[in-house]
Amino acid sequence: RLIPVITIDGPSASGKGTLASALAARLGYQFLDSGALYRITALLALGRGVPHDHEAGLVALARQLGHEIPLRFEGEHVWLDGADVSAELRQEEVGQTASKISALPGVRQALVEQQVAFRRLPGLVADGRDMGTVIFPDAGLKVFLTASVAERAERRHKQLISKGFSVTLDEICSDLEARDARDKQRTASPMVPAADARLLDNSHLSIDESVELVLGWWTDGW
Ligand code: C5P
Repeated sequence: RLIPVITIDGPSASGKGTLASALAARLGYQFLDSGALYRITALLALGRGVPHDHEAGLVALARQLGHEIPLRFEGEHVWLDGADVSAELRQEEVGQTASKISALPGVRQALVEQQVAFRRLPGLVADGRDMGTVIFPDAGLKVFLTASVAERAERRHKQLISKGFSVTLDEICSDLEARDARDKQRTASPMVPAADARLLDNSHLSIDESVELVLGWWTDGW
């Protein structure tokens, strides 16, 4: 309660990360990209040959994060076991695996403590799927960010093309839809707006417009 939190939840490629990190920078707050923790667990599992349905093995890996397996977040960079894995974390295979393992209740439970540890003064902006519902239910402001599938696919397409990947808009659309469906349908912490969340559809807003809008809600104490 004493340490303020703003949560930004929503589907893949809705611009949560961009909005949350811009808000954190403007407010001088900590920033938590909770998806990165699922991606890191996925990357470790892929590297160590732990199957994506082997819950006990995945839980053991997740529990070692930040303990036996050193982990450090540094601005845009993630250092895992001494290596900068920031680029690897964005790989398609890692995202797919993260999406699958995040449905396992044990994996979600094992990552709770890691997420809560980001709540430090002067405050935190956290983005993910269950920040406002499960991890920080007492957050002072909860935003559920959406954008149309067409808009989200367009944005992700531009992003991937600029990084030199060759993918079609159709492939991206079906991947986004599959991921959204998994996130919504799982029984453990499904992606759903918190009862007290403000809904924000940013399909027709620029990043700056979204940032100003949410900052306004925050300073008004909405
Ligand atoms: O947000 P990002 O795409 O990096 O997250 C990777 C995967 O982790 C998502 O597809 C989602 O299934 C899962 N995730 C989750 N809960 C969160 C954040 C991410 O289940 N709080």
